[in-house]
Amino acid sequence: MPTTTPSPPPKPSHYTRPLRPMGDAPKGVITRVSGPVVEARGLKGALLYHVAWVGPERLIGEIIRLAGDVATIQVYEDTSGLKVGDEVWDTGAPLWVELGPGLLGGIFDGVQRPLPLLTQPDDQGRPQEPYIARGVILPALDRQQRWPFTPAVNDGDHVEPGDLLGTVPETPHFHHRILVPPDYPPGRVEGLRSGEFRVREVIGHLIPDNGGPRRPLRLSHRWPVRKPRPIRRRLDPNIPLITGQRVIDTLFPIAKGGTAIIPGGFGTGKTVTEQSLAKWADADIVVYIGCGERGNEMTEVLVEFPELKDPRTGGPLMHRTVLIANTSNMPVAAREASIYTGVTIAEYFRDQGLDVALMADSTSRWGEALREVSGRLEEMPGEEGYPAYLASRLAGFYERAGLVETLGQEPRQGSVTIIGAVSPPGGDFSEPMTQNSLRLVGAFWALDVNLARRRHFPAIDWIASFTHYHLDDWFRDHVDALWPELRAQAQRLLQEERELEEIVQLVGSDALGDPEKVILDTGYLLREAFLQQSAFSDDAFCPLEKQFFMLRLVLAYHGAVKQHVRSGRCTFDQCIQESAPIRRSLFRLKEMTLDELRAAFPDLLAQIEHWSQGRH
Ligand SMILES: Nc1ncnc2c1ncn2[C@@H]1O[C@H](COP(=O)(O)OP(=O)(O)OP(=O)(O)O)[C@@H](O)[C@H]1O
Ligand SMILES: [Mg+2]
Repeated sequence: MPTTTPSPPPKPSHYTRPLRPMGDAPKGVITRVSGPVVEARGLKGALLYHVAWVGPERLIGEIIRLAGDVATIQVYEDTSGLKVGDEVWDTGAPLWVELGPGLLGGIFDGVQRPLPLLTQPDDQGRPQEPYIARGVILPALDRQQRWPFTPAVNDGDHVEPGDLLGTVPETPHFHHRILVPPDYPPGRVEGLRSGEFRVREVIGHLIPDNGGPRRPLRLSHRWPVRKPRPIRRRLDPNIPLITGQRVIDTLFPIAKGGTAIIPGGFGTGKTVTEQSLAKWADADIVVYIGCGERGNEMTEVLVEFPELKDPRTGGPLMHRTVLIANTSNMPVAAREASIYTGVTIAEYFRDQGLDVALMADSTSRWGEALREVSGRLEEMPGEEGYPAYLASRLAGFYERAGLVETLGQEPRQGSVTIIGAVSPPGGDFSEPMTQNSLRLVGAFWALDVNLARRRHFPAIDWIASFTHYHLDDWFRDHVDALWPELRAQAQRLLQEERELEEIVQLVGSDALGDPEKVILDTGYLLREAFLQQSAFSDDAFCPLEKQFFMLRLVLAYHGAVKQHVRSGRCTFDQCIQESAPIRRSLFRLKEMTLDELRAAFPDLLAQIEHWSQGRH
């Protein structure tokens, strides 16, 4: 039976088991060691991006440059102790990940080794950080666990890459679809059995149409991380990824299959936002990459997610989550691997016809690793010491997002949405990581230091942020016909408020007339009663219908005040006094559940409308 909890941590004996046989792997010798980068000579026939075993402990590295006889290898493990003269082997294979049942609920390092779940606090009561010993080669997927497999095709059936072979119930709510691997030829199925299998067991064969050798079918397959998994075609992303975060869904929504960045200075809320999205976004699967950030943040996720319920299935959130942890105490070069490992796993679930959300916190740490390695390679530095290929590397990553039609005779639709945190030093968005990412993504959620300082959370600046996704039609059809209009009005008012604030700073608020005061007040209400949303309260997830009710009421109230002031029935100050009870209820909307608000909405709206007609 499949376990419903993550696999137990590997026993210590796993760490000392014999390393893979070296076989006839071509051997070379280290000629230089520079931090995470080593140079070796003599690796005959090595290809770019082949994995190499480095030194007596067989550290995992990737060949990132070949010049004549010299191979430059970036090592994904701590290189201390390596020395000139140590041996190096070419494994002959690129860095790949293992894809199959057992990924969900897993926590892996950058090269997909399962990390022991150290969820017990240490001696001082602090959460422990994930850790793995050097030179350990661990299979990503549990080799012992047996999974029940039910075939979906019969012997002799013709299948193509991406076709469904059968399913495995991986969790009580998730049926893992086992597909014909994308690099297999079309052919006929032979001897596919139902039963309980380990991930590498042969469950049948594929006889290629072109007469080539028969191919084994298994529950898992491997895929090189730097190679995007093939698809049939890309589709226009036109369905929102619903995040339950009002400032995002209402003002700056992202499409399923879209891309966004969350840039923000120190402590502005990048991690809290990424984690909120991981918890609440309406994705089927979440891949969360902790890249170069503090290990305790990953531990928080590990401790918290199993406790939290997936709003869609009622099961533990961990059951839809894959964690890649490459924390600040781990080798820098592996940050790059963690990014590619994460996105390849995301594509794998997309190919099953699922909506996957990938969070990377923080892409800046990956950028820093690229900068460090490039420096060690003595490449010509680009802007601020980043390599000249920074932009193309980032593009290669974000391009792997998308809403797609998958391979297969009956194509499915799936998506990968990528949301990357960016940590600009000093919160200065003009730096290369922010600028290069900004040009590539469809949504930009800019965290503002001043908002965070004032404890306005999420500290997403409603003026600097943007979205390129046109989703108004979807919201109109699925939430309310008024949605696009309300959204545009809120955006306009917030913009006007910002302009007026600048004037107030110059000349003081006395210079403002009542109509301007109305705008300032509505801006205040929108900020306090609508945009602010604590990630640590019952308001952490706000359904779209609730977002609509809230915005509708705030803007109805704005309309009423504006009308009174314009008609001269009362001054702005009188309006505020008269409508005190209404204002109080506006500030309390957040605390109401959707059901409560749905029940109260008609009355609240009627109250505002009565008052606007001069009755109260
Ligand atoms: N949506 C939110 N609701 C409530 N509090 C928040 C929210 N976002 C951020 N905070 C507060 O801000 C603090 C810092 O947030 P966070 O750790 O996410 O920042 P960060 O940008 O990831 O920082 P760093 O630069 O150190 O990685 C949190 O501990 C929390 O107190
Ligand atoms: Mg953080």
